[in-house]
Amino acid sequence: MFVCVFVFVFGVGSGPMRHVVIHKPGGYERLRIEEAADPRAGPGEVAVEVEAIGVNYADCVVRMGLYTSAKHYVGWPITPGFEVAGRTADGDDVIAVTLFGGYASRVVVPADQVFPRPGGWTVEEAAGFPTVFLTAWYALIPCAAVEKGQTVLVHSAAGGVGGALLQLAKIAGARSVGVVGGAHKVEAARALGADAVIDKSSEDLWAAAERHAPEGYHAVFDANGIATLKASYAHVRPAGRLVVYGHHSMLPKGKGRPNWPVLAWKALRVPRFNPLEMGDSNRSVMAFNLSYLFDEKPLLARAMGELLGWAAEGRLRPPTTTSYPLANVAEAHRALETGETVGKLVLVP
Ligand SMILES: NC(=O)c1ccc[n+]([C@@H]2O[C@H](COP(=O)([O-])OP(=O)(O)OC[C@H]3O[C@@H](n4cnc5c(N)ncnc54)[C@H](OP(=O)(O)O)[C@@H]3O)[C@@H](O)[C@H]2O)c1
Repeated sequence: MFVCVFVFVFGVGSGPMRHVVIHKPGGYERLRIEEAADPRAGPGEVAVEVEAIGVNYADCVVRMGLYTSAKHYVGWPITPGFEVAGRTADGDDVIAVTLFGGYASRVVVPADQVFPRPGGWTVEEAAGFPTVFLTAWYALIPCAAVEKGQTVLVHSAAGGVGGALLQLAKIAGARSVGVVGGAHKVEAARALGADAVIDKSSEDLWAAAERHAPEGYHAVFDANGIATLKASYAHVRPAGRLVVYGHHSMLPKGKGRPNWPVLAWKALRVPRFNPLEMGDSNRSVMAFNLSYLFDEKPLLARAMGELLGWAAEGRLRPPTTTSYPLANVAEAHRALETGETVGKLVLVP
């Protein structure tokens, strides 16, 4: 009886919205769960009752106060989060991309950032779909223009974006060599479509990379940054491209905050590429950050159209997911920052 009255009075999914708020940059203790008034959808917007939230390494960088676009678009306090899966008021199962703000039990987003949930995927798998696949799509298709028969090298191949890159390389008909940082990741990278896997914790990364592609790679996808950038470029073949989309090796693993002197030293030593040399060797370096591309609506529509089409055809497999209650968001960040995780981490509000 009490339950019936409760549901009648408050309704399903109503009540204050819960979200993660970071008031100041710092470690895991900065991730605070707070309540706020339910956001309401205005014209051209859609409200989504969130059932699962994808966690991305970028969210950790936001928490540390090092994510430039977070400062540009939001400032402090900030709720991180680029992607959710949930249900609209009309009962549609959807996924949505958010320009921050996704770590919440309810989000309101422009209608053109909301898409149908891939059929047959769990809500957690769907929540982990948009960011990594959009990143991989942009890196592999518009940037690297990878074609059938080419050979690509994918760093961090068992991670979120790395795993998506392997799958899209397969769809493009390319041969992929995945690099992972631990033996427990080798099988995951193989299962995602890597034709060869290099475990850099137990073998010489670049000797193995040369064995797998003696003439070099048509494309190398690098989010390590300083740790591998120079050698990644050296292993690009003529007419090939190095695509840079992250710099996680600038930050310590599992410490929760940057080591400022080390960070400053590494920032100074990030390789600079010389256009004169690039012209003579016919190799290009490309870089991007998707969070600055939200205004490019036709690009988002095209990317999601292609990705959801491949998901519907069963050509994309859902990421392996590990779920955490929203209240344990600090644990999820800590896990992702160890560098040991496989697939996607997901928060459940
Ligand atoms: N430019 C963009 O628009 C964009 C969009 C999304 C993601 N990203 C970037 O893509 C990268 C991957 O993101 P993700 O969310 O999919 O993460 P992830 O790949 O699931 O996890 C990060 C992986 O990076 C490697 N790693 C190396 N040094 C690390 C460190 N100091 N701390 C943590 N991990 C480290 C580890 O794999 P191995 O040891 O196996 O290499 C780790 O598993 C990140 O750099 C992220 O910022 C960029």
